[in-house]
Amino acid sequence: MSFVTKSTKYPIYILWALCFIIILSFVIITLNIKIENANTEDTKIMHVFESNLTEKLINKLKIKPTNLLEWKLSHYLTSYLNKNQKVKIYLISGISEKKSWEGQKFVQFTIEPYINCPSCSDDIEGFDFRSTYNEKCEVPTSYIRSDPNIWRTKQPFNVENLGKNSTIVSFIASHWTDFRKDWVPKLQTHIPVASFGEVYNNTDWNIHPDCEALEKNTKDHYEDFNAKDCIIEKYPFHLSIENSQEPDYSSEKFWDPFKLGVVPIVWGAPNTRSYLPHPKSAIFIEDYPNVEDLANHLKYLVENKTAYLEYHQWRNMTNWPDGFEKKAYMSMYNMECNICKEVARLRVIEERVEL
Ligand SMILES: *[C@@H]1O[C@H](CO)[C@@H](O)[C@H](O)[C@H]1NC(C)=O
Ligand SMILES: *[C@@H]1O[C@H](CO)[C@@H](O)[C@H](O)[C@H]1NC(C)=O
Ligand SMILES: *[C@@H]1O[C@H](CO)[C@@H](O)[C@H](O)[C@H]1NC(C)=O
Ligand SMILES: *[C@@H]1O[C@H](CO)[C@@H](O)[C@H](O)[C@H]1NC(C)=O
Ligand SMILES: *[C@@H]1O[C@H](CO)[C@@H](O)[C@H](O)[C@H]1NC(C)=O
Repeated sequence: MSFVTKSTKYPIYILWALCFIIILSFVIITLNIKIENANTEDTKIMHVFESNLTEKLINKLKIKPTNLLEWKLSHYLTSYLNKNQKVKIYLISGISEKKSWEGQKFVQFTIEPYINCPSCSDDIEGFDFRSTYNEKCEVPTSYIRSDPNIWRTKQPFNVENLGKNSTIVSFIASHWTDFRKDWVPKLQTHIPVASFGEVYNNTDWNIHPDCEALEKNTKDHYEDFNAKDCIIEKYPFHLSIENSQEPDYSSEKFWDPFKLGVVPIVWGAPNTRSYLPHPKSAIFIEDYPNVEDLANHLKYLVENKTAYLEYHQWRNMTNWPDGFEKKAYMSMYNMECNICKEVARLRVIEERVEL
């Protein structure tokens, strides 16, 4: 988990500074919105801060948010209150330390699928709450690694630049799974697949010197996201075949193509469609009766630019579906703040903060 290792290297005060800056802007933005559209419910919330309604607020925060609106509401309240709380994010599946002060929280964080690391998601005594890809946990975190609003500005892959026999599908995987091992070679019999990972390594990085340079500069092999991104951008489609089909689990293999102007070809979480930016923004392997039909569809799309661009129409939409907005809100770059806010929520409930 490159992100995890990397984030622990930052001095903690940088994380906190960032977190507070984001929380501050969140509060300012939210306050503006609340004041503008004050309905009865909002007025009540404003009131909470203006008078002594401690109990009401605590009761409000006891309700565990289930949808995006409730999440934002709960975060709005806790952001306002999140002053000096501390949080310790443990990156391992066990606790060896005792809490150093009353009210300190231990958070179990993992974004590995269950199949790779069952013990990462298991209930472990000592953690106060979890942050995993599973939306049922207290602070779900998606694999989205940058603000999707920036993705809008990314130009879709230009299929007009492709040659007659250009390879149109890329694949990067560090290990085989049953499905990958069976399906990728089958696709290759119908359409070339440029594969750069450790398995099915059929294409040399040096065909893209800019990507090869990035790859060579990567000291830690697991932190080569920039090199991978560079490869993904070179092809109109990217194979997003997950390790397993677990609800809510979509990795960077799924999200990065959106960021890079490319269309993902998906095998993964059974509920993936519920959090797409648009129903027609990804290609699902399961929608095709056989590999050949899918291969033919891909060939058709690169020859019909209008049809290919239909998969990018989400980039121009002003409003995205809630399912996608939710994944963006629960993205990795928001994760630390979301955890802070959950800590604040718990501390309010525990009456450890003065309102
Ligand atoms: C606010 O209410 C709490 C109980 O809900 C009470 O203990 C406290 O004294 C009140 N504070 C003020 C300033 O009225
Ligand atoms: C494309 O591939 C076909 C079949 O392999 C070959 O006959 C043809 O010469 C190739 N065209 C180009 C432009 O490379
Ligand atoms: C792919 O195979 C080539 C040749 O065997 C090797 O030089 C390269 O390091 C391999 N790349 C990866 C990512 O394993
Ligand atoms: C190309 O795609 C557009 C949009 O899906 C479609 O209306 C059009 O008929 C297609 N053209 C051809 C030649 O297939
Ligand atoms: C988005 O809108 C712009 C401006 O109207 C247009 O040029 C572009 O083709 C659109 N992009 C997509 C992916 O539909």
